[in-house]
Amino acid sequence: MANVVVVGAQWGDEGKGKIVDWLSERADVIARFQGGHNAGHTLVIGNKVYKLNALPSGVVRGGKLSVIGNGVVLDPWHLVKEIAAIRAQGVEITPKTLMIAENTPLIMPFHGELDRAREAQASVAKIGTTGRGIGPCYEDKVGRRVIRVADLADADTLELRVDRALVHHNALRSGLGIEPIDRDAILAELRAIAPEILKYAAPVWKVLGELRRAGKRILFEGAQGSLLDIDFGTYPFVTSSNVIAGQAATGVGMGPNAVDYSLGIVKAYTTRVGEGPFPTELDDADGERLGTRGHEFGTVTGRKRRCGWFDAVLVRQTCAISGMKGIALTKLDVLDGFETLKICVAYDVDGQRYDYLPTQAALQARAKPIYEELEGWAESTQGARSWNDLPGAAVKYVRRIEELIQCPVAMLSTSPERDDTILVTDPFAD
Ligand code: GDP
Ligand code: IMO
Ligand code: MG
Repeated sequence: MANVVVVGAQWGDEGKGKIVDWLSERADVIARFQGGHNAGHTLVIGNKVYKLNALPSGVVRGGKLSVIGNGVVLDPWHLVKEIAAIRAQGVEITPKTLMIAENTPLIMPFHGELDRAREAQASVAKIGTTGRGIGPCYEDKVGRRVIRVADLADADTLELRVDRALVHHNALRSGLGIEPIDRDAILAELRAIAPEILKYAAPVWKVLGELRRAGKRILFEGAQGSLLDIDFGTYPFVTSSNVIAGQAATGVGMGPNAVDYSLGIVKAYTTRVGEGPFPTELDDADGERLGTRGHEFGTVTGRKRRCGWFDAVLVRQTCAISGMKGIALTKLDVLDGFETLKICVAYDVDGQRYDYLPTQAALQARAKPIYEELEGWAESTQGARSWNDLPGAAVKYVRRIEELIQCPVAMLSTSPERDDTILVTDPFAD
């Protein structure tokens, strides 16, 4: 019985939500293991559209257990709002269907304020964060001053935790010219939200271990994308967590052998939100066309996503780092009607050929894509549900991607709709 981890293989927004929703029919448990409500996942099911940030994308399927693992950073006030919004769309969420790890760090209002204050400083280059306090909360976790879910259960501990956080944050805030945090107000807010969160709190490591021994299938849901990974992404223009497959186990409290199959989610072209290097970025009509046809606007911030050609160098690299067994290739339909398509097969950096993205920022900035040109197709692939429905040129494009990234296509997605999906290899059965 295989357990599967889904990982974004580019800069996020690859269509993970759609694929996780589709795969979750075959799973018993869907677990988030990193990131927070910086994620924005859109699910289209019939005439309903669900927008999820912190909740696992499997939540819209009844009868599944959704888990928020300790590797996540959780904004309790946002979660309560998100639960209410999803419930209003007819989804049942109870402590039986949602569990939150007791050791999950909490995002506080002052984390968001700090995130935004830093981004507003003109003296250093912006990261282009979502402004949701993700980075500052992870910093506090590592700095041993974060408030965790379990701390909400005991009044004395909560005060101690808040005081520890405030010593650090008030010093920082004074340097940034922000007024000090109101201790009583934050404690009151935490006490008020505590029961709303504690009812979902559980020793997730134990529950998942037991479910695994009982033969239940676990789907680990990654957020963001591998090029935003804190270690392997385009640092410092990254998010503050490990997003790659190796994080799935530590992000919920299981051993590394808990994951049998890593599935990379890969868009048929490339997008990025926020600042940072992007070798195949297009500033021309082709880029505009990708953005318009692909509706490339961020779910969380509404920002226009930067668009470019498929970069096989980067995806080969991220597939290797996560040990991907297969990929789900999404948004192939967005490429319909292009006369020719380009795929980046290597970089030229000052006359030297690279088959990977070098780590040095200066070299990354000078990396010029070396392209291979492929024939496009005039036919529509939108809504295709079998290989036979795809034009020959589209099949060639997909096959060439598989060769270049050295990883097979296990799934193909041809529209936002749940069922417009072609299954080539079932990751749970592999
Ligand atoms: P995530 O963050 O990886 O879950 O991706 P997002 O939800 O932020 O962005 C992906 C967008 O593409 C969503 O609006 C999806 O509904 C949509 N989408 C997913 N798969 C496909 C596809 O195969 N074709 C098209 N046209 N849209 C898709
Ligand atoms: P999903 O799960 C795309 C980007 C931000 C910024 C950088 C750091 O929807 O794929 P942060 O707020 O995390 O400190 O911002 O990371 N970013 C994403 N880009 N998709 C996401 O999530 C992202 N989550 C963060 O735009 O460049
Ligand atoms: Mg997204």
